[in-house]
Amino acid sequence: MTAPTIHELFDLTGRVALVTGGARNLGFDIATALAEAGADVAITSRQIEDARVTARRITADTARKVVGLACDVRFEDQVAQMVDAVLAEFGKIDILVNNAGNVVSTPENKPLEQRPIEEWEFTVDVNMKGVFLCSKHVVAKAMKPARRGAIINLGSVAGMVGKDHRVYAGTPMGGVTIDYAASKGGVIAMTREMACALAQYNIRVNCISPGGFWRGHSETFTRQYSALVPMGRMGQDGKEIKGAAVFLASEAASYITGINLPVDGGMTAW
Ligand SMILES: NC(=O)c1ccc[n+]([C@@H]2O[C@H](COP(=O)([O-])OP(=O)(O)OC[C@H]3O[C@@H](n4cnc5c(N)ncnc54)[C@H](OP(=O)(O)O)[C@@H]3O)[C@@H](O)[C@H]2O)c1
Repeated sequence: MTAPTIHELFDLTGRVALVTGGARNLGFDIATALAEAGADVAITSRQIEDARVTARRITADTARKVVGLACDVRFEDQVAQMVDAVLAEFGKIDILVNNAGNVVSTPENKPLEQRPIEEWEFTVDVNMKGVFLCSKHVVAKAMKPARRGAIINLGSVAGMVGKDHRVYAGTPMGGVTIDYAASKGGVIAMTREMACALAQYNIRVNCISPGGFWRGHSETFTRQYSALVPMGRMGQDGKEIKGAAVFLASEAASYITGINLPVDGGMTAW
């Protein structure tokens, strides 16, 4: 038997991927990348119409089967129903991307001493409980029975390093929040724990930790954030997240589990 070529190793033809929060931004880019690599894809949004519209768009762009489903990842009954629906549609789930996340609870980004407990609970629920619930149901119903799977969690540089919030002074975003940093640090830790527990079932679990990706941020914020990055700029949606996702989902990463891959222009390298 000849060894697979590098094209074959990255090829996702015949795979089924589930991308939570896949209707927009990084989740959309990742879902598109997986479809471009050959996978059929299910994407979720809290708004069913958003998921369906984006699913049709990805199908039009890639000619893959893509379905849009509703799910709020904070609620186990919704996660269970959503996973059941994906299995009813496709019969299996090979790849799970836990992308759904709450980035900033409030636009004004209150300092620690003014933050209400509700904001902490909301962010931690979406970012950590969501990863837990989606992984739990996909592993139990699809990956463990199949003895095969790749899970990719979305962490963040905020879960790896702290920030000097004076750098963000005067910008509309004001820097990341304590709840967000805690939740993403938790996601990175969950990745390691899940990887060790699930390796025996041939399920790989890895994390991608993006740095700041530019999306209409103000000039001031962009300049001040970019000064923190060795490459001197923010990430660009689409092309700069797609490769990491396809790599970790594919056979090209068959001996990689438990890692956290920063996609951050070197932000966490110094
Ligand atoms: N963009 C960055 O610079 C950056 C940096 C570091 C890490 N990340 C991480 O990368 C992931 C994607 O980031 P993004 O910038 O694309 O985020 P985004 O634009 O805010 O999109 C977040 C996605 O999560 C979904 N979502 C939010 N709350 C949800 C809930 N309770 N249940 C289900 N889905 C929910 C949203 O879906 P609907 O609104 O359609 O329901 C949306 O698709 C997140 O985990 C984020 O923390 C992003």
